[in-house]
This record gives sequence, structure tokens and C-alpha cells, in this order.
Amino acid sequence: MLSKAQNDLITQTGPGTPMGRFLRSYWQPIATSEEMPLGGDPVPIRIMSEDLVLFRDDKDRLGLIQQGCPHRGTDLSYGRIEDGGIRCLYHGWLFDINGKCLDQPAEAAGRKFCDKVRMVSYPVQEKGGAIWAFMGEGEPPYIPDFQFLDAPEPNRLCFRVIQNCNWLQGLESSTDPAHTTYLHRRPPGKKSKRSFTDVAALRGNEPPQISIEHMPYGVRIFAKHNAPEGRKYLRVNNYVYPCGATPSTSTGEVGYQGRWYVPVDDHSHVRFEFFYRFSQPLDKDTLRENRAENVGPDYRHVRRIENRYLQDRDELKRGDSFGGMGLHFPAQDAFAIETQGSIQDREKEHLGTTDVVIIEVRKALFRALKQMEETGEAPFIMRGPDDDRFKDFVCTAGDMLEGEDIPGFCKRFLAQRRAAAAE
Ligand code: FES
Ligand SMILES: [Fe+2]
Repeated sequence: MLSKAQNDLITQTGPGTPMGRFLRSYWQPIATSEEMPLGGDPVPIRIMSEDLVLFRDDKDRLGLIQQGCPHRGTDLSYGRIEDGGIRCLYHGWLFDINGKCLDQPAEAAGRKFCDKVRMVSYPVQEKGGAIWAFMGEGEPPYIPDFQFLDAPEPNRLCFRVIQNCNWLQGLESSTDPAHTTYLHRRPPGKKSKRSFTDVAALRGNEPPQISIEHMPYGVRIFAKHNAPEGRKYLRVNNYVYPCGATPSTSTGEVGYQGRWYVPVDDHSHVRFEFFYRFSQPLDKDTLRENRAENVGPDYRHVRRIENRYLQDRDELKRGDSFGGMGLHFPAQDAFAIETQGSIQDREKEHLGTTDVVIIEVRKALFRALKQMEETGEAPFIMRGPDDDRFKDFVCTAGDMLEGEDIPGFCKRFLAQRRAAAAE
């Protein structure tokens, strides 16, 4: 449980808040590349309580600037893309990708004051099928070369979905290994079209044995399951600063997902999912089909609180799913976290032994805030591609060998990855 003050501290992310400063110290994904094709339209983006417009100019350069026109506040996301920038529809002022005012056609000749106009703008870049923004102070860091961002394009795919609750509830759902046995339980023979996971290993009623390891980049998370035929099945997940998780539940031994939970404001967030497979292309058609069935054009889950997540009590009673909400994991997660309330009241919770990860991730966040307060710098900021601080990054799921312990499993994984990279 957290006090109200502690809960406020790690859930509030607007400009000027400690958590807002922390999250702004890293690049954050704000849209998928697919949403911003060459020649595409401007998109309004609300992120960490700031209203912005993402656009491509007529030279296909990306810009991220404040949504309200600095003249008199009209929404620039309706603007015209022309003449090297975005032009406001109200009086025709023109702004470039850096927020510089280029033109004020309605002002009398000689009375233009472009140079005096200031507006908010942030650097953006594309990486791994997403568009990222840096909204912090000082020199932007380097986006780590996670495998799910720099693997060959056929092996990775990025989606996003908006969820109506605080970002931390999203992050906590992706780092919590205990709920898979319940919320996501599947009856024998039921396999999501998307899943490559050895679901048989997760199908039992027994909760996994959970343990953690502190890592410089966050927390490494282990969930050891008793699988059929006496096997031990280990899932290795990570909490990665500042708001990321890398669960291995969805793509099994052959890959995993990178997820970011980026606040829209303190009452909603975007879950970015980077699907990734190590050595073979993803079945993107199936993934997209599955996505289209479960996420609407408004980037919200089809199953949502307004329709009670389309819960089917007969499906639940028949045992076709644990909660009668179909077999799509992200929709099940959305139900779990959105119904906690728009900001979960953590003064009222009762954490048990299986919540060790929840506790450790929160501690990691508090440590990060303390470090920022003391040194001015957020933890684990990368400065360049040679700053390879994720070389011992383990994220996988699979059977443990007879007599193998967790460090041995991780070592074997890293050796296999290095051998595959050297091929
Ligand atoms: S409000 Fe945008 S040009 Fe006047
Ligand atoms: Fe989940």
C-alpha cells in the first residue's frame, strides 16, 4: 500500500511534477509510423497532459508543436500542410516543424512580428515502427537499440491502444506475473490466433513462483511455472526505465514484446506494443486481423467499460475463458486495470506475497525520483549507440533444463543469443 502522497507522486505526470520530469527525461513513443505515412495528415496528440500536433511538412520532415495556435488558440491539427510548415486555418499563420513562425499573411506589410512569437515544440524521430518525442530538458538521450526496435522490419510490428486509467496501472499489469494464471487462463485447446506461447505451461491453476533481480535499467522479473510432465517453465520479463515492460508471454521462446505505458494525462494512457520475433518474420496479417477484431478505429478496445467488456457469463460458466471476456489478452488486461478506477487508490490495497514485483517496481520508481532530485539526472540514460548497457538483457520464456537454476537459465539464453548474433 502507498500513502496518498506517495500515490500522487508516482501517478501525476503533468508538466512540473517530479514524475513528469522523470518520464520526460527519456524519449517516449507518441504514435506508430503507420499513422504518419509520407504525405499524411496532421494528428492531434495529447501526452502527459500537453496538447500537441504531430505533422509531416511538405518535405516529409516530422514536427511536434503545441496544438493551440499561438495567435489566438485555434486548433492547428486542422491546419494546411504547405510552404514548409503547417498553416493555421483562422488567419493563415504558418509554423515550421520547430515551431518557428514563418508567415503572418493577415498582418500588414512591415508589421509582421514572427520573430517574437514563441510556441512549444519538441524533437521527434522514428525508430522501430514508432514516432518518439523528447519532451525533457537539455540534450536528448539515445533511444536504446532494443531488439524489438532495430530488428529487421519483417520481425517487428508496433501497435498502440488507449486505456482509460492512469499509466502506472498499465505498467503494473505488464510486470505482474501472478495474474496470468487467472485473468488470462485458457481452457485446453483454446489458443489465441496471435499467441505463440506455450500456453499449456500456463494453463494450470497453480500460481508461479515469483522472484526478482535488481538491474541498472530497472527490475528483472522471473515467474517459474510447474508445467505438465514435471517440466519447469520460466518466464523472464523486465521493468525498464521509465515506463516499459518486456513480457515474454505473447511470443514465447521465439521473441517477446516491448511495451511502453505513456500517459495521455493522469486518467488515461497509451499502451504501445512492439511485437518481436528473434529469427523469423512475424505473421503480420494474423496480428493485424486480430488487432482489428479487438481494437476500434478510435484506438480503444472493442471491449470497454461502457459495454461491460462484453462479458458473457455463460462463456465464463462453460469455462471457455476465465472471465467470460474472450481470449484477447490486452482486452482482459484493460478490464483489470480500468476497473481499478481512473487512478487506483493504493491506500486501500492489500499486497500479498505474489505482489513482490509490484512493490519492487514502485521502489525502483521512487529511487529514480530520488536520484533525479539529488543529481538532476534520471537513471540509465543512454548517450549513444556504443553505450551498450543492455548487453545482458534477458527476455524469454521456456523450459528449464533438469537441475538448472535461474542464473544458469539466463546464462544459457545469453550464450544462445550471442551465438545466433555471430552467425
Ligand atoms: S488563431 Fe491561428 S492564425 Fe489566428
Ligand atoms: Fe496481462
